[in-house]
Amino acid sequence: RGPEAVSATGSPTGAPATARAQSGQYLTTAQGLRVRDTDHSLKAGSRGPILLQDHHLREKITHFDHERIPERVVHARGAGAHGVFRSYGTAANITRAGFLAKDVETPVFVRFSTVLGSRGSADTVRDTRGFSTKFYTDEGTYDLVGNNIPVFFVQDGIKFPDIVHAAKPHPDREIPQAQSAHDTFWDFVSLHTEAQAHTMWNMSDRGIPRSYRTMEGFGVHTFRFINAEGRTTLVKFHWKPKQGVHSLVWEEAQIINGMDPDFHRRDLADAIEAGAYPEWELGVQTFPDTEDQMFEGIDLLDPTKFVPEELAPVQPIGVMTLNANPTNYFAETEQVAFHPGHLVPGIDVTNDPLLQVRLFSYLDTQISRLGGPNFGQIPINRPHAPVNDMLRDGMHQQAVHGGAAPYHPNSLDGGCPFLAGQDLGAFIDVPEEVAASIKERRNPASFDDHYSQVGLFYRSLSPVEQDHVIQAYTFELGKCYEKSIRERQLAALANVDAGLCAAVAKGLGLPAPQATEQVAESDPSPALSQVGKTWPVA
Ligand code: HEM
Repeated sequence: RGPEAVSATGSPTGAPATARAQSGQYLTTAQGLRVRDTDHSLKAGSRGPILLQDHHLREKITHFDHERIPERVVHARGAGAHGVFRSYGTAANITRAGFLAKDVETPVFVRFSTVLGSRGSADTVRDTRGFSTKFYTDEGTYDLVGNNIPVFFVQDGIKFPDIVHAAKPHPDREIPQAQSAHDTFWDFVSLHTEAQAHTMWNMSDRGIPRSYRTMEGFGVHTFRFINAEGRTTLVKFHWKPKQGVHSLVWEEAQIINGMDPDFHRRDLADAIEAGAYPEWELGVQTFPDTEDQMFEGIDLLDPTKFVPEELAPVQPIGVMTLNANPTNYFAETEQVAFHPGHLVPGIDVTNDPLLQVRLFSYLDTQISRLGGPNFGQIPINRPHAPVNDMLRDGMHQQAVHGGAAPYHPNSLDGGCPFLAGQDLGAFIDVPEEVAASIKERRNPASFDDHYSQVGLFYRSLSPVEQDHVIQAYTFELGKCYEKSIRERQLAALANVDAGLCAAVAKGLGLPAPQATEQVAESDPSPALSQVGKTWPVA
């Protein structure tokens, strides 16, 4: 395809063209020098040695030597697509975000991913899936960096390196590549029991989706909407696939991994190329922004908890259609940089201690992954809103900045007046009172229950789905060499559900332990069993 076919973001929505077609009447060096022969190096005679003065050879080989960049520390394997988000306007009374006003259309880029495997790993492993969306809004870029599972392994971001080290391949042999079947993973989740919730979702059919197109997406954390009057509402984001939610069964996943490790990547690209554009509705659960930020006994700042839909229905606020494949995998899917701190006026963060650490981590990791602080200038990462920052220089700077005074205030360049009292459409942090003693390293007591919701989710599943969960725990724990770890995980399952624990214990040939914690054996939520059913479109 020629340059005119491709925009700066690769987006079909009309950004300026920058792609290089790499075609033409003659080949050139990177400097534009016409090349006569790129098939033979310059030698002394026809049998060599090769001469150091062969500048074309050295340019070609040196560039090749540096083609690879570090893969993401997590979510290394992914597949991306362009599309458009159309807002219904139903959230306009609770957020001033311009892209959520009625009928506004916003270009998006989405990257789906597995979490644990390396860039070249297989698609249909048992794992969490990432679901990241970059909205190129008129007010700046907004990133919703979510997963296909509504809860997370750890409550405090300081534990993120621990869960990732435990779940990644063993340090000695780098085995297994990407499935939750090893001693370190089960060691951690049975010791650090707040991880039981996410683990249960992984062991359910959610851990092996049929397709990226048939996954739900969740923002996981509670965020804050702010409306034009400054009123705040707490929200949880949900993506609901119009294709419905479908999973593989374990045997299918295993066979596909062997026969077509690119199954999910191929499925997404093929569907879009064939014009079968996948769609998701975006919805929010809303909660009053009370002082304690609790809802029906659930601490909204605890990312290991979800809020059942029967208690807070998901309200549709817009629909996303993915309608174009990337032109260049590296330029777009690999170099895209999402960040939960990419916010727009009308959407703010909360004090969820996992989210707070994420706000630090993404920019930090991208500085090393993408070679310095200027990766925001890479076409896929460029905002569609005008940029007027005072950032200068740095590795890989592409801009030729004018002006003499990159500081504020200044009296030379006109600067930015920050007109007092005027609504500039700027981002305003929501003011919050914090009355606490500083220097506390502990969680609130409302984070303590690690088991009730795990059992609630398990009991909401159909008998066939429950059977899959039993088989998954039995298979994965069966891969643990250490008997003490298997026993400790069974002890955790005893606190989740006695029947589940007994069935897994039987499969492992071990005695079923008794529960050690008093947890609510509440009825399954009818709304939970609806999770994953296709929504009626508003
Ligand atoms: C990617 C850190 C929790 C979803 C990443 C990356 C890092 C990271 C360093 C690689 C980013 C890059 O190289 O561009 C963390 C930390 C967490 C955390 C420190 C906890 C404190 C979460 C949670 C979610 C999530 C709770 C889901 C709600 C993702 C996704 C990606 C990602 C989807 C892939 C983004 C892409 O496709 O490029 N995370 N993460 N992470 N994370 Fe997290």
